[in-house]
Formats: sequence, C-alpha cells, structure tokens
Amino acid sequence: MKYKAIIFDLDGVLVHTDKYHYQAWKVIADKAKIPFDETVNNRLRGVSRMESLDIILSYSDRRFSEDEKIAMSEEKNEHYKTLLKNLLPQSVSAETVKTLDELHTMGLRLAIGSSSKNANYILQKTEISHFFDAVVSGLDITKTKPSPEVFLKAAERLNMAPKDCLVVEDAHAGVEAAVAGGFDCAGMGDAYSSDLVTYQINNISELCSILKLL
Ligand code: BG6
Ligand code: MG
Repeated sequence: MKYKAIIFDLDGVLVHTDKYHYQAWKVIADKAKIPFDETVNNRLRGVSRMESLDIILSYSDRRFSEDEKIAMSEEKNEHYKTLLKNLLPQSVSAETVKTLDELHTMGLRLAIGSSSKNANYILQKTEISHFFDAVVSGLDITKTKPSPEVFLKAAERLNMAPKDCLVVEDAHAGVEAAVAGGFDCAGMGDAYSSDLVTYQINNISELCSILKLL
C-alpha cells in the first residue's frame, strides 16, 4: 500500500464543529460591530484561536488592547464549548464511521492532527477516540497550521515518515502545513480546490476507493 497511515484534521473533516466555531465567533464579531461572514470564516479554518481573532479584528477600524483580545477569545471559547455540549456519537456521520472502520481494517494506522485545544473533548463526546493510534491537538504544539508541526508530531507518534502518511484536510492552512511537512494531502470542503492537494475528495468515504486503486 502507498500509505501506512492517515492523519486526519478534526474540525470540518470528521466532525462539523466548523459551524460551531463560526457561530461562536459571530457572537463576538456582532458585539464588536465587525462584519463577519462565511467567507471570512473560511480564513479561520485550521488557524489557532488567537490568530483567528486577529483575522476577525483586521476587519475593524478600531484597535483592541491585549486584555480586550484575551477577553474576546475567552468569551468565544465559552460560547463554543456550550455549543460542543450538543455533540453526540451521531454527530459523526455513519459514512465517516464506516470509513474509519474500513481504513482500520485495511491495516492503516490512524491519527488526529488538529489545531484545536478542544480536540480531545470533541473525540470523547463523539465516541470516536478508539479509532486513533495518536492524537495531536492544539495543546501539544507551539505553532499552528500552516506550520507542519502538528502533522510531524503525529507522524512521529506513529513512528512513521511523512512520505508514508496521507493527511486529510478541509483548510488551506492545513494543506500548506501538510505540504511543508512533506506529506501528501487529500483536500475536501474549502480545501478541495487547492492547487497543493494530491487528491480531491468530496467526502471522506472516497478515501477507501482511492487507496485501493494506488
Ligand atoms: C481548528 C479550527 O481545528 O482549531 C479553527 O479549524 C480553530 O477554526 C482552531 O480556530 C483552534 O480551536 P480551539 O478549539 O482551540 O479554539
Ligand atoms: Mg479543519
């Protein structure tokens, strides 16, 4: 087989927490009277919480102090965590669970490479932790995507070289991170049309058929 492991981004790839990130940031942006829509939100995919806030604030004429920024990011995370309480095992699509199961049966090792500090909570709420041999989250890294750190750490924990791992991403920053680390990358959602992706997928269920053809 061409790859021995698959490293998944979490938000927007396995679980649709990307919509919760958007809703939580929208509350903060509306309060500060900053224009914020899905197009701006796409720029936040894969990017850390504080860097996301800086992108949102770049659409304001006002300057915000460090204390204000910390308060805003904390408030966003409180809204986000309240929304995450809605997560259930059924929040992961049956197709996604079937794919993870099939990849595992094919002998591939599976890992998570997420910028989110809430990744472990999400995996726990959706009850999919058991699929993964390694979980690298925002709590384990010093630089978020587009730095390759998160994926390099996941490969290291799997004891694999980047060339033996395929990264699955929905964010441009994530695709850049994968390529910078020497990984091939399957792009879906917002990253589907990235020039840097090795495979374009509409849904993660397409992974099994792609891998079987290689
Ligand atoms: C990434 C999301 O997975 O995690 C980003 O795509 C988010 O939108 C980042 O900003 C950090 O998440 P958290 O949960 O640590 O605020
Ligand atoms: Mg994502």
